Amino acid sequence: MRAPCLKLHLAPLAILAALACACICGCSPKGPMFPLDNPAPRADTHSYAKPEEWKMTRVFLDLDVDFHRKVLRGTALLDLEHGPGSPAAAVILDTRALTVEKAEWSASQGAKPGAEAETWSDAEFSLGPDDPILGAPLRIELPAEARAVRITYETSPGAVALQWLEPAQTAGKKQPFLFSQSQAIQARSWIPLQDSPGIRVTYGAKIRVPRPLRAVMSADTNPFAEDASGKAIDASTLEFRFDQPKPIPSYLIALAVGDLAFANLDPRGGRQGRTGVYAEPSVLPRAASEFADTEKMVESIEARFGPYRWGRYDLLILPPSFPFGGMENPCLTFATPTVIAGDKSLVSLVAHELAHSWSGNLVTNATWRDFWLNEGFTTYLERRILEDIYGKDRADMEAVLGYRTLLDEMKTLPEKDQILYVDLKGRDPDDGFTQVPYEKGALFLRTIEGAVGREKFDAFLRSYFDKYAFQSITTQDFLGELADAFFREDPRLGSKIPVLAWVTQPGIPEGAAIPSSPLLKHVAEAAAAFADGKTQAASVPFKRWSSLEQLHFLRSLPKGLDAARMKALDEAFGLTHSGNSEVAAEWLLMSVRNGYSPAYPRLESFLIEVGRRKFIKPLYEELVKTPEGRARALAIYAKARPGYHPMAVATVDGILQGKGK
Ligand code: BES
Ligand code: ZN
Repeated sequence: MRAPCLKLHLAPLAILAALACACICGCSPKGPMFPLDNPAPRADTHSYAKPEEWKMTRVFLDLDVDFHRKVLRGTALLDLEHGPGSPAAAVILDTRALTVEKAEWSASQGAKPGAEAETWSDAEFSLGPDDPILGAPLRIELPAEARAVRITYETSPGAVALQWLEPAQTAGKKQPFLFSQSQAIQARSWIPLQDSPGIRVTYGAKIRVPRPLRAVMSADTNPFAEDASGKAIDASTLEFRFDQPKPIPSYLIALAVGDLAFANLDPRGGRQGRTGVYAEPSVLPRAASEFADTEKMVESIEARFGPYRWGRYDLLILPPSFPFGGMENPCLTFATPTVIAGDKSLVSLVAHELAHSWSGNLVTNATWRDFWLNEGFTTYLERRILEDIYGKDRADMEAVLGYRTLLDEMKTLPEKDQILYVDLKGRDPDDGFTQVPYEKGALFLRTIEGAVGREKFDAFLRSYFDKYAFQSITTQDFLGELADAFFREDPRLGSKIPVLAWVTQPGIPEGAAIPSSPLLKHVAEAAAAFADGKTQAASVPFKRWSSLEQLHFLRSLPKGLDAARMKALDEAFGLTHSGNSEVAAEWLLMSVRNGYSPAYPRLESFLIEVGRRKFIKPLYEELVKTPEGRARALAIYAKARPGYHPMAVATVDGILQGKGK
């Protein structure tokens, strides 16, 4: 922070004197106090779009969901605004493996609910070369008076955002299922649009699905009328209508179709409530009791950080092939069923996805370089919710476990990927999906909270969310707010918290507010005593512990354990058959590492059933370390691959081909 000021000592005395005061109160009042070396921080290297020429403002989708051909087919209508000066001759959209049949333009905007643009004229269009990361640019020629384009298109069965599930992959086994996963740059594989988080749209949709399936979207779905405001368009097909009136980035547009039922989660009940859960009918009762605290969570975060601005907050429980833990699609968080543990022990996921309704969905990273603004803030807020509802012990345990995973992963990451403001140019934004934006980001915020005090920091966050509501911002924007709120007025703070080092350097800067948990300290001691042979497995109170303590115990054991110890642990704690997915995944990893064969049948069934990348990636990575393990991995993967989401397939293909991603 001092560096730019130091340069000034070379300047003539008068200038020096003039700037000295500015320096004390934070360098030049005009230039940033924490300058990042990036002249165009808003430029998104992961999109072909040129929003300064033409910018989409609303998307309207009119799609048929074809389970037989595994395609979506129909039209995307984009309302457009042009930049200053005379409009460019063409708009450029992002696409990936889309078949574009037709493009049209209209002089009136057509995407408003109910309003159809009057006349459409054919527009010339061309698809550019296909890039393995970015897909292909779609160029549509436009006259200056154009205010909307309409594209008739079809997705491909391999669209990376979409997973088409056979009935056998669902809980009910009778109906197929479809879901989308648009983050980070996959929306373009099911909608031709400007696929950049710096560009926001409202959206609407008409989605036709075969009976008796139900469509839900990240929009104002009405859970009480079976077909929302839609109507049956013929005997065999239902049409669902949606509207998302708040401007959101494209990666938050989401769709799921399946045999879905709904349960209210709000104590106010019925139509007075705002929280609920969708799941397949056989999963619904377990889901509803696991997530019973959802409304309390919304109230906790609202009380501190401002109103929930999205209408309803519902959860959608997907089949176990969902490649993530959760995805914060507005109004409707998508979640893996592997967090239904029966004891609410994994509901931090709901706290996390809900918190994105402030950090991420309301205030959004402008580019994928700024991803830590989404995830670091959310991880921080998640723990604040947990502390409010379940107490400080629980929040501290989550923070310690998170910090430990960060340290473990950082050992394997090159320095350039340990940086919050990570340079992803020319790379897949998925490369930035590490613990760094999450846990290092949260640690940074926790450190600031510790230095300025919780009350001031909460007030700061609340006004930050208000000021930037429904906007996409850069790391530089955030650093400006931080400087204005705290650092300009208190020069000593800068020596306690090296802000630029936090954001632009690898590793963990000095002075970080490292989390600690007395409960977990106890657990680590128990693990050490067992490892040293001082206690037997039977006298470890494992079954009385929460799953967070159980996880910490397993992670605190030495990496290498002999067969007798593995067996003793398994017999005492029933680990191979643990019903807690986190504990089971950890145990299976230990089993692979130590060649503990009684766990292999569960390893196989787990890898076939569950497609959550966080679990399957480390297991395959561990397996391929030995020739025998590699053979086992290949045999299991041959059975599991058809059931994985395209993103999980890409990850595991990479591991088995030795690319390690
Ligand atoms: N938004 C992320 C998931 C994501 C990030 C998908 C980047 C694609 C690209 C979501 O909020 C998330 O962080 N999910 C976590 C769970 C959470 C409790 C840490 C996950 O899925 O593991
Ligand atoms: Zn997240």
